[in-house]
Amino acid sequence: MKNVLVTGGAGFIGSNFVRYLLDASRESQLQVVNLDALTYAGSLENLRDLPRPERHTFIQGDICNRDLVRDLLRRHQIDTIVHFAAETHVDRSILSPEPFIQTNVIGTFTLLEAARKYWLEKKALPLEQVRFHHVSTDEVYGTLKPEDPAFSETTPYAPNSPYAASKASSDHLARSYNHTYQLPLTISNCSNNYGPRQFPEKLIPLIILNALTGKPLPVYGDGQQIRDWLFVTDHCEAIHKIITQGRSGETYNIGGNNQPANLTIVETVCDLLDELQPLAEPHRSLIKFVTDRPGHDRRYAMNISKIKRELGWQPRYSLTDGLLATVQWMLANPDWVAAIQKQREYQTWLDKNYDKR
Ligand code: NAD
Ligand code: DAU
Repeated sequence: MKNVLVTGGAGFIGSNFVRYLLDASRESQLQVVNLDALTYAGSLENLRDLPRPERHTFIQGDICNRDLVRDLLRRHQIDTIVHFAAETHVDRSILSPEPFIQTNVIGTFTLLEAARKYWLEKKALPLEQVRFHHVSTDEVYGTLKPEDPAFSETTPYAPNSPYAASKASSDHLARSYNHTYQLPLTISNCSNNYGPRQFPEKLIPLIILNALTGKPLPVYGDGQQIRDWLFVTDHCEAIHKIITQGRSGETYNIGGNNQPANLTIVETVCDLLDELQPLAEPHRSLIKFVTDRPGHDRRYAMNISKIKRELGWQPRYSLTDGLLATVQWMLANPDWVAAIQKQREYQTWLDKNYDKR
């Protein structure tokens, strides 16, 4: 791995992964090219104070732009693609699904085609030195009943939201490029991430931000839905292991082994803030049950025995430590928070999603 193209590297997980790669203790000769369209979810703020910034090149652009992608692969002699760029918020996919099809399906197809042409047709680099890694989600597997076993790599796909369906489509395309063309490729399906730099439309940063400003904390339905929470640097480490040691053609499930109900997550954040930033009333008094998400998946859980067995990966962070680190990061970075709060698009989103709930 010498010249890595990271797509979506100005977003939440992508920017944490760029930091992870640039860390001096990892590949010392590495160059990172970061392609990101800077949609509402991406920001150059996420790329401030990078370690070894001379090894990082940022390109603002769209993964659906075929000529741009083709040119980047050639110009930077890209040997590794780590593909994060996507539309990622389930609630937005319910209200406006089209950008999800464009970026997640067409964008992934565009990248796969560019890699096939550069690596397989042009034979630009030795095949054993190249790798396409496609970053995906546990949501492609659908929802679990309380008694069901956790999702494994062989669980049939049953995506329930337009977001999940668009990611499932991209997974199928990625898999087919390995099967048909032998494009060196791996896929990871990961559970819910949280941590520094997550856009505050997702549950945990939204709750922290609302709690800090004394606003209601919206809990969908009865709050008993279950997600499998993973601290973001654990996800970065898992992806790095897959790229460097994982077998081409394989899918790896990644999860946190932390599966509390949403309401418990919200209450835990409230209790942390009571200690770190107390209000006159306990933060729990801000909790407000609101109309549920249409088609809301009830429960996710990941079986991570394959990645544990083959690559020796398992999460390092407990939920308590991860949530504390996340809240402390948000408190220590008021400029990052203020920049998002100033975005008109963000306020419009909050009105659109929460006003009529
Ligand atoms: P995010 O929404 O925070 O960031 C997405 C990034 O992609 C942004 O920087 C955005 O500007 C960029 N982008 C969007 N459309 C683009 C386009 N057409 N061209 C170039 N860049 C574009 O997302 P995230 O939460 O960091 O998720 C990253 C990846 O991980 C996604 O593929 C997502 O499906 C997957 N994933 C996320 C989670 C999670 O809990 N957040 C869990 C599992 C998998
Ligand atoms: O499971 C992996 C997926 O996790 C990723 O693929 C997605 O990109 C990511 O957005 C996330 O999807 P979720 O829908 O699970 O995440 P979100 O943070 O939006 O919601 C988490 C849970 O909290 C979910 O059950 C819905 C609920 N929720 C969410 C919001 C925003 C609330 O109760 N209130 C809210 O205001």
